[in-house]
Amino acid sequence: MIVQGIPSPGDGLRLHLNENTGGCSERVMEATRALTATDIATYPDYRHDVEAVGRYFGVDPDWVTLTNGLDEGIFLAAVATFGRAHDASLEAIVPVPAFDPYLTATAAVDARVVRVPPGPDFAFPADAIVAAVTPKTRLMFLNTPNNPTGQTISREALRRVIAAAPQATVVLDEAYVEFDPAGSFLDELPLFPNVVIGRTFSKAYGLAGMRIGVLIGHPKRLEAVRAVTPVFNMNTVAMTAMQAALADTRFLPAYTAAVAESRTRLYAACDRLGIPYWRSAANFVLMRVGARASAIVAALAERGVHVRDRSSDPYSPGCIRVTAGVTAHTDRAVAALESVTAAGLVETKVPR
Ligand SMILES: Cc1ncc(COP(=O)(O)O)c(C=O)c1O
Repeated sequence: MIVQGIPSPGDGLRLHLNENTGGCSERVMEATRALTATDIATYPDYRHDVEAVGRYFGVDPDWVTLTNGLDEGIFLAAVATFGRAHDASLEAIVPVPAFDPYLTATAAVDARVVRVPPGPDFAFPADAIVAAVTPKTRLMFLNTPNNPTGQTISREALRRVIAAAPQATVVLDEAYVEFDPAGSFLDELPLFPNVVIGRTFSKAYGLAGMRIGVLIGHPKRLEAVRAVTPVFNMNTVAMTAMQAALADTRFLPAYTAAVAESRTRLYAACDRLGIPYWRSAANFVLMRVGARASAIVAALAERGVHVRDRSSDPYSPGCIRVTAGVTAHTDRAVAALESVTAAGLVETKVPR
C-alpha cells in the first residue's frame, strides 16, 4: 500500500528534521485554543496576515507571498519558472549538498538540475556557480545557512553569483537565518529584482506542523509565483498561530540562545570523542562518523535519539546531522553518541 507522507520515527527525541525541540510559544497555544467553530468553518481571508508579515520583515505587503511551508514556496518557484516553458533544456543551478526539494521540485517540472559541488570544508563554490551559468539558467537555489552543512554564504559571494545570472530567479533560502540573524540578505533585497528570499516559521518559531513559509521579493517577480499559488493555500489555524508567534517577542531570543549553547555542547562532545564536525550557523551540526553511519543512526535510535542519516548523499559521505535545540535534549543526544562510540561503531579520527 502506498500512503502519502513521511513516516514518523516513533518514540524518542526528534533530532532528525531540525524542528524546534522545545515546541512553540505558549501564546500560540492560547490563540489557537480560542478559535471558534465558525472560524474553522469559514474560508480564510489572510490578507491582514500578509500585511503583518510585511510589517515584520519591513517590506510592503506586495513584496510578500505566504506559502504552505517554504516547501510549497520552493515548488511554486519551480512551477512559476518552468511550468509553462515546455522546454526540458532549461536549467536550475543547485549547489550541493542541498535540501532535497530543490532537486525534486526542479525534476517535477521537467527542468535540468545543474549540481555544483562545494569547495573544501563545504565552502560556498562561488566561482564554480558563476562558471555554471548559461543562457539556459532560469532558476538558482541558494541556502544560507546551508542545510545540511550549516555553512553560510558571504554577502560578497551572494552579490557575485546573483549578478552572474540576471535572467534567472534566485531563490535565497533563509530557513535557518534566525540562528544567524546578521546573515540575512533582506536589507539588500531592493537592489536585486531577480532575488526571492524564502523564510519559514517551521524552525526557530516552532510551527513546523502549521506549514507557514514566506517568499519575499520584488512584486513583479512574485507575480509569476502568485499566478500558480492556490487561492486558499494558507489556513486559519496556521494564520492565528503565526500572529501569536509574531507577538511573542521573548520566544525567539530565548530559543536561539539555547540552540547556540547546544551547538557548543555538540562541538565539545565531538572534540572529546574524536568525531569530525563542521561549525554551524544553524540549529544542527553535521558530523562525519564514517562508513557505518547508517548503523550508527539505527544505534542512536535504539537509544531513543533520532538523527538524520546524510551518508547516502555523495556530497556528504559518512555524515549524520544532529538537531541542536533544548540543551537537556542535546545532553541526551551526547550521552547516546558517547554510548555508540564506546560500542566501537563510530570511526573516529577520520579526515573531514
Ligand atoms: C533549507 C530548508 N528550506 C526549507 C525548508 C522547509 O521548511 P518548511 O517547513 O517551511 O516547508 C527546510 C526544512 O527542513 C529546509 O531545511
